[in-house]
Amino acid sequence: MKKHFKDTEEYIENICSLDEKLFTYFQSIIKIDNNLTRQLVSFQANKKLSAYRWYKYKEAFSVSLVQHFLSKYNIPKGIIFDPFAGSGTTLFASSEAGYDSEGIELLPVGQQIIKNRITACNLNQNDVDRIKFWRDSLPWKKFKAAEKINSIRITSGAYSENTEKSISRFLSAVKQEKENVSSILFCCLLYILESISYTRKDGQFLRWDYRSGRRKGQNTFDKGRIYTFDEAVISKLDEIVNDLNGTNIQLDLFANTRQQNVTYKNIKLYSDSCLNLLPKLQSLKYQAVITSPPYCNRYDYTRTYALEHAMLGIQEQELTDLRQKMLSCTVENREKDLLNLNRDWAPAVRSYEKNELLQLIINYLEYKKTVGELNNNGIPRMVRGYFYEMACVIQDCFRLLKNGGIIFMVNDNVRYAGASISVDLILSKIAEDAGFNIENILVLPNGKGNSSQQMGAHGREILRKCVYVWKKPN
Ligand SMILES: C[S@@+](CC[C@H](N)C(=O)[O-])C[C@H]1O[C@@H](n2cnc3c(N)ncnc32)[C@H](O)[C@@H]1O
Repeated sequence: MKKHFKDTEEYIENICSLDEKLFTYFQSIIKIDNNLTRQLVSFQANKKLSAYRWYKYKEAFSVSLVQHFLSKYNIPKGIIFDPFAGSGTTLFASSEAGYDSEGIELLPVGQQIIKNRITACNLNQNDVDRIKFWRDSLPWKKFKAAEKINSIRITSGAYSENTEKSISRFLSAVKQEKENVSSILFCCLLYILESISYTRKDGQFLRWDYRSGRRKGQNTFDKGRIYTFDEAVISKLDEIVNDLNGTNIQLDLFANTRQQNVTYKNIKLYSDSCLNLLPKLQSLKYQAVITSPPYCNRYDYTRTYALEHAMLGIQEQELTDLRQKMLSCTVENREKDLLNLNRDWAPAVRSYEKNELLQLIINYLEYKKTVGELNNNGIPRMVRGYFYEMACVIQDCFRLLKNGGIIFMVNDNVRYAGASISVDLILSKIAEDAGFNIENILVLPNGKGNSSQQMGAHGREILRKCVYVWKKPN
């Protein structure tokens, strides 16, 4: 039965009261974990690591976080799984720690980063020398700018004329190389696109610098230095060569793995939506899941990674289709009929439907939409879709894990129209319905010295960033 209230105040009061009830239900396992620094839970800690540093995947977590969970929870050797693999941090870090790993990634940019790292690890010395030659002799400069580079509406005009010509020359020259070398060189180009463009990734979209000439007169955004093609590419090639030669002295994970002859051949990547693939995977297969799904925060990866996708040859319609296939996390995502895809998800859908707090939040957002007080009318549909789809993902992760297997999930709480959405509590309740024991909701310290006592008193007011630890019973 849908619950309705007379105004915003009543809705918020009732949401807070249900939220408090669920918070109290889980209170004993909600803990601030001072090990979980922001550095560890974001890409920050990877910034100097060989190969990881080639491309800053903004939504990535760190290798150290994966290592931390594998060792702290004594995960037995076997296969580690990530249904939202992104740039592959879970896959590489697990592989380096001696596990096999499997992941699913929908977006071509992530798939390409992962494949390229595997290629890089299997180059021979001649290949590395050839990349060194590119760094030292800049062979693309002798080529004509023959290729027209692919662009889509949202990337058109992203580079200056000179930069566009250089990209075109570079692409023509890359084509002359043998496959594995050309793959590394092409990715080198992908890695630098943002730095040579008039754009900056900004979560929900690409932000355009005033020098682009877009929205002339109205646009004052200055992204800072825009690198010339040669500076950016030479510096990136230098980084790659140093890492391949093991001469990046800061580290060196990658050098270690090379010494131990780790070739990442124990990594398997599936390229599609996990919603299509999960039902096809074998039960009881994985020791652990270490993952971070998109957050329910309107971030649109298809827009922020548009430069890279255009360079990968993706066309307008394909990008729109990818957006619809993503886990619902943007206001444009339409409803997915998951039960039609897999009838076995009926229990997950029931769990989503009977979650009182979640359903009241959705009713509230629908109400705000009706009275015209939402800044975007797609928000209720996004929130509905997010939890509906996550419930199915969680149910299948339960099925895929071995008995005693653990899932570690990084996620953030969000707030819309003045209502805090405790993603951590709601998903943990759904996970419990799926059969998991909710071991912990580990909360990141907020930097203001939040003690456990403060957490009890004010925990509900903070937009918590968390890692959930759910265990499948033995
Ligand atoms: C937070 S990022 C994961 C980052 C990853 N942990 C890393 O360290 O690189 C979430 C990822 O989920 C992917 N994704 C979104 N919807 C998906 C879907 N339906 N199937 C598979 N991957 C999806 C996004 O493209 C994005 O790369």
